[in-house]
Amino acid sequence: MKSKNDEAPAIEANGARIPLIGLGTWDLRGKACASMVEEALRLGYRHIDTAAMYRNEEAVGEGLRAAGIKREDVFITTKVWSSDLRAGDFERSARDSIDKLKLDSVDLLLIHWPNSSVPLKETIGALCRMKREGVARHIGVSNFNVNLVEQALKLSTEPLVNNQIELHPYNDQTKTIAASRKAGLSVTAYSPIARGKVKRDAVLSRIGKAHGKTAAQICLRYLVQQDIVVIPKTSRSERLKENATIFDFKLTAAEMKDIAALASPHGNIVS
Ligand SMILES: NC(=O)c1ccc[n+]([C@@H]2O[C@H](COP(=O)([O-])OP(=O)(O)OC[C@H]3O[C@@H](n4cnc5c(N)ncnc54)[C@H](OP(=O)(O)O)[C@@H]3O)[C@@H](O)[C@H]2O)c1
Repeated sequence: MKSKNDEAPAIEANGARIPLIGLGTWDLRGKACASMVEEALRLGYRHIDTAAMYRNEEAVGEGLRAAGIKREDVFITTKVWSSDLRAGDFERSARDSIDKLKLDSVDLLLIHWPNSSVPLKETIGALCRMKREGVARHIGVSNFNVNLVEQALKLSTEPLVNNQIELHPYNDQTKTIAASRKAGLSVTAYSPIARGKVKRDAVLSRIGKAHGKTAAQICLRYLVQQDIVVIPKTSRSERLKENATIFDFKLTAAEMKDIAALASPHGNIVS
């Protein structure tokens, strides 16, 4: 895997090129969602994260069309929810997603959350079929721990390119990141600013002062500097720009170490 430092910095994994910054859209709906997506794309975002479960794929598609960006220049991720992991349900959900987005295919289709009551082999089989049938250009997983990543790798007949996990300075995902990368998967950090909690962090604020950046920007820089994709969500225009302006400075090794020290074993806030 390697990253490139051009206009939309990206990570390459198993044939996919994923922009390092994307817009998260969980809990954005309707017109508000469409206009944030449009605004983000106009500002230079080239990656949007949605999911069947967010019930906003129509709005994401609307924002995409309104921005007038060429389809091949935007990376769209969607996910199939854990209640739809039987093969037939999975395929119906994935096809529904592209219909709602009004796209021929998504760039990345993920199993949103594992479900131990459905054999993983069946779900991975359906996921691979969606790639072969052109519903998704690339496929991957989300909320998969080390053991599940290893199982998925054994079962998949198509390359898996990404594992989307909860990741911010307060939780330690070292093992899952290592297992994902060993399998050739890139890692996407969801809730990358810990649902806004980082804003009040003393360490991130102190480092921010030294760089003329906000605590949220320091947090996002900390992740992308490790080649981790980030998908912060915001409903505020001014924060769209703030969250994306993270490629014009570098954290020192000492600063990276101070931020890494914020992690604790029970630091998850979502999962
Ligand atoms: N795969 C999964 O299971 C999974 C789970 C959770 C999330 N996700 C994805 O990851 C995305 C991001 O995660 P998330 O929405 O949970 O959390 P997040 O992006 O870490 O945080 C979003 C919160 O932070 C606030 N915020 C945004 N920018 C800020 C800034 N610069 N300074 C201070 N506060 C700021 C937002 O408020 P305002 O809107 O007021 O700006 C919102 O309350 C989701 O939207 C979704 O696409 C995936």
